[in-house]
Amino acid sequence: MRKDSQANAAISILDDFLDGKNLNSILFNWTKNNRYAGSSDRESIRNIVFDILRVKKTFTSVLEKEKQPINGRALVFLHSVFYALNLNDIFTGQKYGPKKLSIFEKEFSKISKENIKECFGVVDNIPDFLTAEFKRSLGRKFKNAMRLLEKRAPISIRVNPLKSDISSILECLSLEGIEGKKSKIVRYGIDIIGNPRRLTQIQAFKDGCFEVQDLHSQKIIEDLPLDEHTKVLDYCAGAGGKILSIACSLKGNGKFYIHDIDEKKLKEADLRAERAGVKFKRLEVEKLQNYRCSFDYIVADVPCSGSGAWRRNPQQKWRITPESLNEILTRQTVILDEVKDLLKKNGYIFYITCSLLKIENEELIENFLMDNKHFRLLNKKNITIDDSGDGFFCAVLQKKK
Ligand SMILES: C[S@@+](CC[C@H](N)C(=O)[O-])C[C@H]1O[C@@H](n2cnc3c(N)ncnc32)[C@H](O)[C@@H]1O
Repeated sequence: MRKDSQANAAISILDDFLDGKNLNSILFNWTKNNRYAGSSDRESIRNIVFDILRVKKTFTSVLEKEKQPINGRALVFLHSVFYALNLNDIFTGQKYGPKKLSIFEKEFSKISKENIKECFGVVDNIPDFLTAEFKRSLGRKFKNAMRLLEKRAPISIRVNPLKSDISSILECLSLEGIEGKKSKIVRYGIDIIGNPRRLTQIQAFKDGCFEVQDLHSQKIIEDLPLDEHTKVLDYCAGAGGKILSIACSLKGNGKFYIHDIDEKKLKEADLRAERAGVKFKRLEVEKLQNYRCSFDYIVADVPCSGSGAWRRNPQQKWRITPESLNEILTRQTVILDEVKDLLKKNGYIFYITCSLLKIENEELIENFLMDNKHFRLLNKKNITIDDSGDGFFCAVLQKKK
């Protein structure tokens, strides 16, 4: 696809997003209806849309200042101005391309670059209702986190020690033209520096030698007090990222159980386990009561605001509302209540979020401990969002009796 057709696709996707549709469904339908588009086209379009959504508030404040309508075309226009793209290559007026620039837009393009620059670093790209909570939670780290949320997230992988090692994978990546560097912060991690696009196409990935996983997500798991030959339950396993990391780090020695309210998601976890050479046992809702006092460790990687990972999923930050955040907080409490009886005496709950907010992290755990005196807090950790990875919180809770 030409640049102008890609821009046109981004415009229609953004218009649908602004109309309130779900971004994943919009992208899915777009792909279904435009089969001629190859993977690199889809990636370019997705990059335009995601780059814009990360800084949507900055762009909309420029448009509001100039009393301009906020729509897909205006956002793609500002994106093109900001990245100094040749506007004539984009707003071509050709078939499948956006209409040519109006006289007003041509004039506007001259002033808007300065306007955007003025707004960058001033406007915080988070929902208004969360600004105070972010400031309270992050303190001095607030501004830095705001700037990081405007950038693309780093890409990294976790090498599976059951099947390979760091140097073999680095060699393999290099043969594929993908540039990687051994991570300094985790044992099995590799930072992907260049050309990450084909990562999941290469044979070593298909053979289960590595998984794509954020370095901080790996760090959270690496620091857990885990022993081999134990029973581990991932209660919110989803696609299995955390339990896979645990099972591989324990070299498959243990019994690994997965559960999720949305069982469809567990299919992906099963596929990944098979690739990695580990086994997961499914724990269905109706069987939960048979597993009272059964597990040595329970991972509760709970649903959360996702604020530590909004770089990867910027739609989440524009969809969250005070009501949906309250629902999330209730779910987190309910999940802790559900898992506590499944744990053996002296067992551990690993409560994990990818949130930067105290209400979902420290404060939720404080409330749990107040209501559950037979648990104690062994350790808690915030991993701040930075250039190596997303923001995470982890609390290790031990059951005393
Ligand atoms: C943060 S995601 C888990 C990600 C996953 N652990 C990973 O590392 O790939 C949270 C998961 O919790 C699940 N969930 C939400 N409410 C739940 C509940 N009440 N019981 C169990 N799982 C729940 C969601 O379906 C979602 O898959």
